[in-house]
Amino acid sequence: MTLFSTLLAALGCGLIAGVFFGFSSFVMPALARLGPAQGVRAMQSINVVVLNRWFLGVLLGTALVCCGLALSALGAWAEPGAWVRFAGACLYLAGTISVTSLYHVPRNQALARLPADSPEAERFWPEYVAGWSLWNHVRGASAFVAGALLIFALLGLSGCRGPLRPIAPPGAMTPVEHLSELGIFEGDPAKQVPRPGFVAYDVNASLYADGARKRRFVYVPAGSRIQTSSDRWQLPVGSYLVKTFSFPRDLRDPMLGERLIETRFLVRTEDGFTASTYVWNDAQTDARASRGDLDVPVAWIDERGVRRDQVFHVPSTSQCAACHADRALGFRSRQLDHVAEYADGTHDQIAHFERIGLIDQRPPAHLVLSDPASEAPLAARARSYLDANCSHCHGAGGSAERTDLFWDLEHTTSAELPSCRSTRSIDGRDRVLVPGYPEQSEFLARMRSDNPRVHMPRGPAKLPDPTGIALLSTWVASLPAQRCESD
Ligand code: HEC
Ligand code: HEC
Repeated sequence: MTLFSTLLAALGCGLIAGVFFGFSSFVMPALARLGPAQGVRAMQSINVVVLNRWFLGVLLGTALVCCGLALSALGAWAEPGAWVRFAGACLYLAGTISVTSLYHVPRNQALARLPADSPEAERFWPEYVAGWSLWNHVRGASAFVAGALLIFALLGLSGCRGPLRPIAPPGAMTPVEHLSELGIFEGDPAKQVPRPGFVAYDVNASLYADGARKRRFVYVPAGSRIQTSSDRWQLPVGSYLVKTFSFPRDLRDPMLGERLIETRFLVRTEDGFTASTYVWNDAQTDARASRGDLDVPVAWIDERGVRRDQVFHVPSTSQCAACHADRALGFRSRQLDHVAEYADGTHDQIAHFERIGLIDQRPPAHLVLSDPASEAPLAARARSYLDANCSHCHGAGGSAERTDLFWDLEHTTSAELPSCRSTRSIDGRDRVLVPGYPEQSEFLARMRSDNPRVHMPRGPAKLPDPTGIALLSTWVASLPAQRCESD
């Protein structure tokens, strides 16, 4: 409906602009050449004939449609392009209709009252032509610009700028080559300021990624909402999940900025999630679609001022499924329930989602992960770390489900821990977890190992996480000591 009325209004504006353009460019100059008596007679005739249903139909019909458009745009202000529609419609009403009724109509009526051969007409004519022409330029130009704005709004409505095009995975028939083509980030893309509609969010316990920082954004198409639940949330078709990895240049000085490495996408389609990644160029001006599986060298300075050189491994897009298995992994009540900083203060993140209409309702009672770097109790931090870094594989539906070794929050209570569970020996340790004895626990040996065949967590991150290993070691040491019987 809006599409049709915008089209109608744009065409009406164009037609009216054309009529007034004719008057400005040749009709008025031609009449001015005739001299007062003939000029006045011709103009009087035009002013009588112009009041016909065709011309008035287009002039006033367009005005009526513009009134409707302006009101509907006000009612849907949040929609992309609403203001363009509003501006176009108002410009026609103010610049064309008001000028016509406040200036031209009274002038024409004054002219109609004068006999063409009278001395008054002779005096009135030059002044009439000059003023009439000037204001005709104004109403013609207004109709023209209004038409242009409405065409612009039309392009948005018909999908040229409105809903995003789904990102074809790299290697597909029509991949979107450059991140900039997607129009997600506004201004300098390296600043990662998303266009309206994209919502920044954060998780309680982030997956360790060789020390990279992450920014996350979610986009849900207008009119749909995320369905919450006590555990995993359901994203509507057309949702975009975006995660950008970066390294600060110098941890001691945030002003030095950061080096963006890759921006990953999961796009929810009818058949599940499409995964893709875009790797940033050195100039940090844009990122290119990549099949991944490449090493990007990064250098940064840590909090002690020591220069760190490492490689960041961008996973192959065929590896995303090993962890994701067609699921969004951070969209869980346990990961999103926390208090965060927003432009207007500190809020509960879920309440924020509710307020901006991102979710259908607050999730029912649920488990919550703790930030492993927070002041939360040791066990909560350690178990949250395991849930966030291991349970996408070692959990229901995960790729390590067949090991029957689960690291989600539900399976790390003292009753469920894999204490003394025997396993393939790694560096002489053959029990997954020995309570009280971190140095004898095989899972910690795997986490410390730089042998990619045994290293855990399996995945693109290659470097052992010293902070995570320290946290888990302290936790295992704090568990009531237990001697495992030999089999
Ligand atoms: C080692 C496991 C692993 C691999 C491999 C992996 N991811 Fe993820 N990903 C996660 C986890 C865990 C989260 C949720 C926690 C977070 O956001 O830090 C996540 C989050 C995301 C998110 C944010 C939305 C969400 O699911 O919560 C996107 C987007 C994403 N991953 C894309 C990708 C893409 C694309 C690939 C492949 C190029 C990929 N991931 C490979 C584990 C993985
Ligand atoms: C990308 C998926 C993935 C992630 C993430 C992952 N694992 Fe594994 N894990 C596996 C697979 C597959 C196996 C079975 C093959 C093997 O033993 O190497 C396994 C095996 C193990 C085993 C031996 C299991 C046994 O049968 O005794 C341990 C212990 C283990 N993982 C610990 C962890 C820990 C701790 C984490 C998190 C810090 C983790 N894993 C994260 C995929 C994963």
